[in-house]
Amino acid sequence: MTVKNAPLSSDQINQLVKAALEVRARAYAPYSHYQVGAALLTSAGTIITGCNVENASYGATICAERSAVVKAVSEGFQRFEAVAVVTQNGGSPCGMCRQVLYEFNPGMQVILANAAGTVIHTFTLHNLLPEGFGPAQLE
Ligand code: THU
Repeated sequence: MTVKNAPLSSDQINQLVKAALEVRARAYAPYSHYQVGAALLTSAGTIITGCNVENASYGATICAERSAVVKAVSEGFQRFEAVAVVTQNGGSPCGMCRQVLYEFNPGMQVILANAAGTVIHTFTLHNLLPEGFGPAQLE
């Protein structure tokens, strides 16, 4: 699988953060009140968003990043160049989301922004999940 990991332009970053900010408003988070929005940039240039969806059975909660990945794959996109995640404070993706993102491109860029849309950190997924387990291990 070939995935481009070219640095994003500031326009692309702004667009991605804006999309994550907008979808964050649709988060269903009545228990934690911690709303999360995620926006994936596919290698086709499409932006696919997701928000966290909590559940009264707390363990059934779905994070924003995984919600975006599931939406993207079901729409036919499996190659991602970047993901922007917006939270109140620029919080970092959980371990389960890092693993799910890693599946589709360990080199993707991860942009973390706060509720004002200010970028707090940018990483590559490699930085967030070094020596991760991925499809290559099963070859
Ligand atoms: N959450 C995400 O959506 N993404 C993460 O990577 C970390 C946590 C959500 C899950 C839950 O709805 C809320 O944030 C508090 O944990």
